[in-house]
Amino acid sequence: MRKAYIAGNWKMNLTPSEGAEYAASLAKAVKESGVDCRVMIAPSFVALPAVVEAVKGSGITVAAQNMANHVSGAYTGEVSPLMLKDIGVNTVILGHSERRRYYGETDEIINSKVLLALSEGMEVVLCVGETLEERQGGKLEEVLSRQIKVGLAGVEASQMEKITIAYEPVWAIGTGMTATPEDADGAHAFIRSTVGSLYSDDIAKNLIIQYGGSVKAGNIKALMSKENVDGALVGGASLTLDAFLPIITYNN
Ligand code: 13P
Repeated sequence: MRKAYIAGNWKMNLTPSEGAEYAASLAKAVKESGVDCRVMIAPSFVALPAVVEAVKGSGITVAAQNMANHVSGAYTGEVSPLMLKDIGVNTVILGHSERRRYYGETDEIINSKVLLALSEGMEVVLCVGETLEERQGGKLEEVLSRQIKVGLAGVEASQMEKITIAYEPVWAIGTGMTATPEDADGAHAFIRSTVGSLYSDDIAKNLIIQYGGSVKAGNIKALMSKENVDGALVGGASLTLDAFLPIITYNN
């Protein structure tokens, strides 16, 4: 049985004090409402320590939105996995389409980050997804297959339990255009079978695949009802308790 896993990617929003205040109210609400899915939030780097403190004991996972592909050294502006682990952050989102698009992250760079995070014992949410042009050009499967094969190159079968894949069609991010539950399920089924052919049926069966792209209270239930949709990676609607709580309690 795959446990539902819903994550909030705050992107470049919420200052450390705003984030800590919101995270504390989220932790309280999670305890009171008996949420039965795994909940993760990913604040900015500078908000991480305050947010880790604010959610202590709540079971909420706190993740980074990115990380360097080196452990230390002359890499100005970068944040090492050792620094994240030192403040109690053991999960990282890698390969988000905004990192790919605005910061030139290639599948190879993302792969080096995935391997480093795993070698440091961290969990990874690896984001994949096609642009509108790629989808309209019939390249959906080719793009997903490349992003998964290169992104996971060198990852051992025994490390796959630390990997979650987030399918985020670029055209659905922040646009209000959600993939239909059927579109999401189809892409997730393809991702699952790709992982199955790289590893094993068992690993594919246990793989958590999140959907991301304009997820909100009004569409979470329909998305989660699909066989291959195991969770969500939520952007805009994860920024306030009012918007996020109904998403993580979709099942209550
Ligand atoms: P939105 O939910 O704002 O579309 O963002 C999705 C996303 O990119 C999450 O990582």
